[in-house]
Amino acid sequence: MAPSMGDVAQNLEVWNKTWDWSRRGDEWSDWWGGTSAEWFGALLPRIHTYVPTGTILEIAPGYGRWTQYLKDLCDRLVVVDLAERCIDHCRERFASASNIEYHVNDGRSLDMVADESVDFVFSFDSLVHAEIDVLAAYLDQLARKLKPHGVGFAHHSNAGAYPVLVNLALRTPDRLRRPLIEKGVFPDLYAWRATSVTAESFASQCEVAGLACIAQEKINWGRGIYLTDVLSVFTRRGSRWERARRVRRNPFFRWEARRMAALYANRS
Ligand SMILES: C[S@@+](CC[C@H](N)C(=O)[O-])C[C@H]1O[C@@H](n2cnc3c(N)ncnc32)[C@H](O)[C@@H]1O
Repeated sequence: MAPSMGDVAQNLEVWNKTWDWSRRGDEWSDWWGGTSAEWFGALLPRIHTYVPTGTILEIAPGYGRWTQYLKDLCDRLVVVDLAERCIDHCRERFASASNIEYHVNDGRSLDMVADESVDFVFSFDSLVHAEIDVLAAYLDQLARKLKPHGVGFAHHSNAGAYPVLVNLALRTPDRLRRPLIEKGVFPDLYAWRATSVTAESFASQCEVAGLACIAQEKINWGRGIYLTDVLSVFTRRGSRWERARRVRRNPFFRWEARRMAALYANRS
């Protein structure tokens, strides 16, 4: 994928039209040694406190890589994606599950979700492509959609923390940029991280929306040393989970993936 700014129209074009979904997104878990290794090794340990629960909202499920696990961790799962193709596929894939509700949205709206109806909102490996205005729109609505003690887990970009390097990489010709990214000199623009987002801007938008961001883990991704991604946990103000925000740097995330793949996965 060419380096570019993430916006809603571009996301729609890629995920609804041009992306080859023949592996249903499982290819993005190859570095963990497979989807189940990533779920049980990286995701479930980070969200286990909040599940199982009543209602989960998954934003941007794609072809259902995480939906297959989330559906068994709640009474009701609501999935919302910008791409009709993804929702159509999920409908078919999970036809035997009677607790899933499906919606196509415009990349911002959660109007289809009732106020104060969500116990846990989850989004992983999707909103990293969303710029801060999109995240702000979702957070603004989530402040109402979450139940009083509801919690959110969101994976988003931190590429905005490296403006100089990102601009330099953007201005570098592709034939030089590619090897420099491979060597980890530049942040990985090919992973298409939204450049307007940082851990801090996400936490501020939580604040503006009336939510409390309680934990942020800054992580690296497949290539490089840069902490281009963030896993943020947020809750309604006044909820039993509210506390001062804790922020940690985790430059070992990609090593963890490699270790899991090498030692524990059923294939690597
Ligand atoms: C890289 S795929 C990941 C899908 C899934 N989360 C996974 O990990 O397999 C990105 C997904 O995010 C969806 N998406 C991107 N921007 C979105 C937005 N603003 N609102 C809702 N869905 C969005 C796309 O349609 C696509 O299904």
